[in-house]
Amino acid sequence: MNPQLFVIFGASGDLTARKLIPALLELFKNKTLPKPFGVLGVSRTEYSDEAFRKKAVYDNEHLKKKDVDQAVLKEFADHLFYQPIDTGDGKEYHKVAKRLDELDKKLQTNNNYIFYLSVPPKLYETIPAFLANQKLNNQKQGWKRLVIEKPFGSDKESAILLNDKLQENFEENQIFRIDHYLGKETVQNLLVTRFANGIFEPLWNRNYIHHIEITAAENIGVENRGGYYDTSGALRDMIQNHLLQIVAHLAMEPPNNADAQSIRNEKLKLFQSIRPILEHEVSKYVIRGQYTGAKVEGKKVNAYREEDGVGKDSRAETYVAMKFFIDNWRWADVPFFIRTGKRLPTKVTEAVVNFKSPPHHLFRKDDSFNNKLNQLIIRINPDEGLALQFGMKIPGAGFRVKNVDMDFHYSDLTNAYVPEAYQRLLLDVMKGDATLYSRGDSVESAWEFVDPILNAWEKNPDLKLYGYPAGSWGPREADLLIGSDQVSWRNPCSSLATDGAFEAL
Ligand code: BG6
Repeated sequence: MNPQLFVIFGASGDLTARKLIPALLELFKNKTLPKPFGVLGVSRTEYSDEAFRKKAVYDNEHLKKKDVDQAVLKEFADHLFYQPIDTGDGKEYHKVAKRLDELDKKLQTNNNYIFYLSVPPKLYETIPAFLANQKLNNQKQGWKRLVIEKPFGSDKESAILLNDKLQENFEENQIFRIDHYLGKETVQNLLVTRFANGIFEPLWNRNYIHHIEITAAENIGVENRGGYYDTSGALRDMIQNHLLQIVAHLAMEPPNNADAQSIRNEKLKLFQSIRPILEHEVSKYVIRGQYTGAKVEGKKVNAYREEDGVGKDSRAETYVAMKFFIDNWRWADVPFFIRTGKRLPTKVTEAVVNFKSPPHHLFRKDDSFNNKLNQLIIRINPDEGLALQFGMKIPGAGFRVKNVDMDFHYSDLTNAYVPEAYQRLLLDVMKGDATLYSRGDSVESAWEFVDPILNAWEKNPDLKLYGYPAGSWGPREADLLIGSDQVSWRNPCSSLATDGAFEAL
């Protein structure tokens, strides 16, 4: 890997402490960082290099310091530098250019710079333009890369505008749009499960698959992000990016090669094949909810509307379940169900492929199992792994059938080190590999699917926002969305809710 400097805008913020510095430390410990290497933190707060090292490393509660030798920690901290500027003021960027020049000479990083924007989205357009004013987009000497955090736009129009703005100064191959779900081993493993095995892909189509469901549940609320979340909601926060990326990995056609261009081309094709949910169909296909106060395991949990930074009559959705179809040869008529929510009973992300039941139920007399679908459960987090459920004969008289699991857990792999998503993604941008980053056109395409739903909610306040008690699995209406005799959501654990109501808000 080339020598390089990693510049973090928003260095005093939460993401830097929670994700970026811990990922960089892990990479440093594993000796996978480029050499030479340095980090320049940039933000408004006045810190010296030493004060920044103290905050980002020594006082950072998100670092697993117990596992790290003091000397290693110091060596890592010594790679960190800091430059205070008002990141919203273009006139201050000469300070960044000057500091980079000095550090580059000192560390011998050959003018290779990554600019990581961990800042409020309103700065996504301006910071790259200010950098360009200082010629920090110029690749004549050394390469320059830009990493943009989510949310990338708030609808299709704003995503197009942002893409256009970025591309005024940076080439597409310099822009890395992060979606941390793509950095998860288990999300990448979806491609390996499908395309490295001979047994799954022949069944992976409308002839054998009954429906696909994806759940991304969280038991936490909005924590200290109420202000952001209230303008975003679950559809923008989780579905437009993370869940649609999982859908793409599950449903795309096999790419010709495992390189960035081929994989991203297939994903784009897939997004373009998702049948749009039209504004007048939203009530039929999409259920939105918001958590209400409840007692969970004896403890009172606030309603969403009581959270800090949230409007008292907020209509932001903290839960979404939806049904949609993919109009292509492989998936015609196969329903996809996806759901996500805050304050559900547990933290789990999984995809479940439900296979059709056999055409003739031979053992119907003896067991109700015949009514069940074989499921391939792909656990993305936690307890990462795969389980295949199928019917087995219960020993003894007759033909009684029982559901059993054939499972694989990543934790069973000895010597296997499963890196955090951010470690993988940071390493990839350092190498210049964009495979696990979202391309501009597919981000726009994902917004195109989500936009009519957002518009329908905005224009028709009568479209129901269902209340669901914190600690429950969300509005009952979501069960009706998927429900039939044979089918219901697979619940990875039972509801913890002890009270609360399911009324519409
Ligand atoms: C983030 C969302 O992108 O993903 C958060 O903004 C959410 O609201 C988080 O909590 C979930 O990520 P993970 O990796 O914990 O499933």
